[in-house]
Amino acid sequence: MIEDFDVGSDWHVASPYPFLARLRAERPVFRSEHLGAYVLTRHADVRAAYGDPRRFSSKGSLTISRSLTRETRDRLGEHGSFLSSFVANVDPPDHTRLRRSVSRAFTPRAVAAMEERFRRLNEDLLDRIGPRRAADFVRDIGHEPSIKLTARFIGVPEADEDFVQAHVKDWFQLFLSPQPPGRQLELAGSFLDYLDYVDRLVAARAKEPRDDFTSLMTSLIGTELTHREVVELISTILLGGNDTVPNQLGNTVLRLLRENAWPVDPARIRNAAEECMRIDGASLGSFRYVTTDVTLHGVTIPAGALVLLSTDSAAHDETVFPDPERFVIDRPNADAHLVFGYGIHFCVGAALGRLQLRTALEVLGRRLPTLRLVPGEPIAYRRSIVGRGLAALAVEW
Ligand code: HEM
Repeated sequence: MIEDFDVGSDWHVASPYPFLARLRAERPVFRSEHLGAYVLTRHADVRAAYGDPRRFSSKGSLTISRSLTRETRDRLGEHGSFLSSFVANVDPPDHTRLRRSVSRAFTPRAVAAMEERFRRLNEDLLDRIGPRRAADFVRDIGHEPSIKLTARFIGVPEADEDFVQAHVKDWFQLFLSPQPPGRQLELAGSFLDYLDYVDRLVAARAKEPRDDFTSLMTSLIGTELTHREVVELISTILLGGNDTVPNQLGNTVLRLLRENAWPVDPARIRNAAEECMRIDGASLGSFRYVTTDVTLHGVTIPAGALVLLSTDSAAHDETVFPDPERFVIDRPNADAHLVFGYGIHFCVGAALGRLQLRTALEVLGRRLPTLRLVPGEPIAYRRSIVGRGLAALAVEW
């Protein structure tokens, strides 16, 4: 029997792969009542859907939580549909214009220039934490360097980092996971404070530009971008940078420790990182709305329906990756995973994400070569529709 696509249940969070393998074989277009969406699970179908933005639209696809109460909506006012102008949430021609602006900040030169800064942030952290000989990898090691790097990239002053971090977490909860009514109102208040903060940052950079992402985007207001688009971009990139890379790093370190592959020989880090992203991707997939009836493998997805492109399943597709549940550190096509998406919305931060992952593996491997899991500690994942990440990971060295 095929269960539903129940991302909230323990079995699904920890290891959905036997279930996804059955879907790929028997029901490649699966209607999930739980998600209220159709799910595509084969690599070829997921890739083709990403590559067909006309029929698989991104418009509004990120606002997953439809469970905001009327009171919360009133409180949010015009921001109730927040994200409506975020680059991942729009179709061409708006997408083409927004993407062009954002890409200016992610040139290969700009990304390469961040390597040294990121390396230093990791070294600083390990100088402080090294003597402790034990830590929760997620809380104490995985997040800080990425959060600090993203903050500097955006132009958030160091003194405001904790404020931003706390508010970004609230934002994430409010829009991406269902919350009880009272908590919704609290989170909405926090979110509005956060938007005020980003607004003030934009105003400050408009007056006095610096060498940061906020200044670059602010300089495009009135010509290429609107004020609202800039505020949404900045707020969301703070979220993207704060969460996805640390999640991927945690998944990666756990995998390497379990496979007795720690520390990774520097010459193999590039491929090892790709294989870890393939087998334990931090992003589970992307949502799209079909703009017309789409018939695939005998199933008609009706116009207007929500579809999940399961990159998590695509990365374990046996027709592309032989013996997919086995970790193969030098798997030749490991980078054919779709964890950064594909097509026009392909992750604009992919090069930066990869750079952080490789740099962290290199520094951590060198500084903590005896890193190991604390025996007997359970491995717990956070519950989320869109991403896989650990709640905690007890390590020692
Ligand atoms: C391992 C880390 C990361 C993963 C797994 C990841 C995953 C993804 C995925 C799957 C998409 C496609 C969304 C879609 O098609 O609907 C995407 C888009 C995007 N990502 Fe990432 N991402 C990561 C890191 C980052 C970083 C570090 C940044 C920025 C600092 C970033 C910024 C963005 C933006 C702005 C988009 C929208 C691009 C567009 O719509 O054209 N991501 N990401």
